[in-house]
Amino acid sequence: MYEELAPWWPLLSSPAEYEEEAGFYAEALAAACARPPRTVLELGSGGGNNASHLKARFEMVLVEPAAGMLALSRALNPECEHVQGDMRTVRLDRQFDAVFVHDAVAYMTTEADLRMAIDTAFVHCRPGGAALFAPDHIRENFQPSTDHGGHDSQTHGLRYLEWTWDPDPADTTYVVDYAYLLRTPDGAIRVEHDRHVEGLFAREDWLRLLSDAGFEPRPVPVEHSELDAGSYEVFVATRPPR
Ligand SMILES: C[S@@+](CC[C@H](N)C(=O)[O-])C[C@H]1O[C@@H](n2cnc3c(N)ncnc32)[C@H](O)[C@@H]1O
Repeated sequence: MYEELAPWWPLLSSPAEYEEEAGFYAEALAAACARPPRTVLELGSGGGNNASHLKARFEMVLVEPAAGMLALSRALNPECEHVQGDMRTVRLDRQFDAVFVHDAVAYMTTEADLRMAIDTAFVHCRPGGAALFAPDHIRENFQPSTDHGGHDSQTHGLRYLEWTWDPDPADTTYVVDYAYLLRTPDGAIRVEHDRHVEGLFAREDWLRLLSDAGFEPRPVPVEHSELDAGSYEVFVATRPPR
């Protein structure tokens, strides 16, 4: 989806769906910072759906490795600075009032990768600032599930089935299999299977890695109509003032 099928992304996940969620993240970050945040770095910004709402409140720099997703975000968020980069290794040599890492953190599938992403957030976070990490699941709230959805544009349509399951509960990954039905203007339907291997870590592992990096972290349960209340938890981590 993030490479060859990237042009279809807005029909899988539309910016409007992120408004309430983005409002929650903005409030949580603002509450955690020592002073009101103005600059925000997003790591793994994808098509820029969250940023399309957050940019009303913050000056955003968006880091994303996939060229197709960056192009979508540049079109949606022309007023934001975009950087092609990997959340494990990118170094911008500047600090931000806050760092936001949404569902892209799910692509950290080993503890070593997650530690690198957390270190990236720490070095870019100003002392007194905060970072927010929003994994799709942690070990404690993971449930196998199915979902479906999709959207139409004037010319194209997409519908998907999403199947989340864990082949090996003893390791740090789970699998999300997607079946996409992709409708082109002539009415033809193409079918694609897309497998995402995503990271799954226990709350105590998150808190340990965030503390090791120098953050003061706390888990925050999310009650949100778009997300299953009680089954979703984010980590808000403050960087102590010098
Ligand atoms: C579900 S999309 C993010 C959508 C985003 N939350 C939004 O608001 O539009 C996940 C993104 O994570 C990105 N990603 C995967 N591995 C990454 C990495 N190592 N560093 C940064 N981003 C990564 C993918 O390229 C993809 O665009």
